[in-house]
Amino acid sequence: MKYDFDEIIHRKGTSCVKWDYAERFLEASDVLPMWVADMDFRTPDFIVDAVRERAEHEVFGYTLRPDSYYESIINWIGKKHHWNIEKDWIIFSPGIVPAVNMAVMAYTQPGDKVIVQPPVYFPFFSAVTENGRQLVYNQLVLNNGRYYMDFDDLEKKIDNRTKMVIISNPHNPGGSAWTKEELEKLGKICIDHNQILVSDEIHSDLVLKSFKHTVAANISNEIAKVSVTMMAPSKTFNLAGMATSSVIISDPDLRNTFQVMLDRVHVGMGNLFGMVASEAAYTHGEKWLQQLVEYIQGNVDFVDGYLKNNIPKVRMIRPEATYMIWLDFRELKMNDRELKDFIILKARLGLNDGPTFGPGGDGFQRMNVACPQALVKEAMHRLEKAIKSLS
Ligand SMILES: Cc1ncc(COP(=O)(O)O)c(C=O)c1O
Repeated sequence: MKYDFDEIIHRKGTSCVKWDYAERFLEASDVLPMWVADMDFRTPDFIVDAVRERAEHEVFGYTLRPDSYYESIINWIGKKHHWNIEKDWIIFSPGIVPAVNMAVMAYTQPGDKVIVQPPVYFPFFSAVTENGRQLVYNQLVLNNGRYYMDFDDLEKKIDNRTKMVIISNPHNPGGSAWTKEELEKLGKICIDHNQILVSDEIHSDLVLKSFKHTVAANISNEIAKVSVTMMAPSKTFNLAGMATSSVIISDPDLRNTFQVMLDRVHVGMGNLFGMVASEAAYTHGEKWLQQLVEYIQGNVDFVDGYLKNNIPKVRMIRPEATYMIWLDFRELKMNDRELKDFIILKARLGLNDGPTFGPGGDGFQRMNVACPQALVKEAMHRLEKAIKSLS
């Protein structure tokens, strides 16, 4: 079956954050919203059918996840990422952000240090600071259009208060699909210095042409022993509103510590429809995902070509994974406020402001291209017009 990703679906009026709350969060009206990391595509039929069938039962009481739910996750991760996991390793979480927060609370004490690699998905920062831990930056290095980890700086930043490193694998917003070699080096540092490696792999299924996802915990038993891996169908199949994801931990002690925290905050029951949607997605989703990734690749290529041909002052960091494009506006030489105003008021685009992603974000904006190409084209036209008005 051929899925139609060109279809424009009007999302306004559904209380969705991206379209209905742009005005409140971006302080702007009349922008084309390309910020929040969800997709504007129709949910595939096999997921909608499964949810509809369950809805037709018309009783939605307390429910536990059946074996088939876990089998669908095990099979998906085995086939897609060649990581053979066991049912016992999988712990439910109502989201990855809650899971990152629970990991910080479970494995570290107030006052401990936690390392993150900016520019990075900003809820990592509050997971550390709002839980009373110290945030330590191990800034990524941008070299020839790709972000790299700075291992020397990482080792220097670890002291006896440092307990955890949190990574986005693949990386949001920079788009690096970390290689086995990179993750191996990182894993070795974590092992040598007794750090827990929290690997947020929510974007792992969205790897673009000629790149590959590596599960950090699957590199070696030693790395697995210090790893807490987080995965979900929410980015892959656009199910963020279903609040259903997994924390996968092979080490029994590490797993038990996380489970105790999950039980303490009582969020392990989950969402009945999330459970149904997740199982349908992981069971039937492979062909749809293949077409989706091709479509996203087309959007990325389009933006790449458009910028080079028409707006060469704006460069993009070509993503190896994710549907985010990290746009480099530094050549415009605007300060943060000027760039933000320019994007919203002049270009009338709703993007994510670079500085919110921490050090290294100045002069950048993040654009989500998981939408029909007509919208991406409109965004490029708006940006071109705004840039041309500067000269
Ligand atoms: C790296 C990363 N982690 C987590 C999330 C969100 O996870 P959740 O909605 O499951 O809390 C996102 C969403 O953009 C993300 O990019």
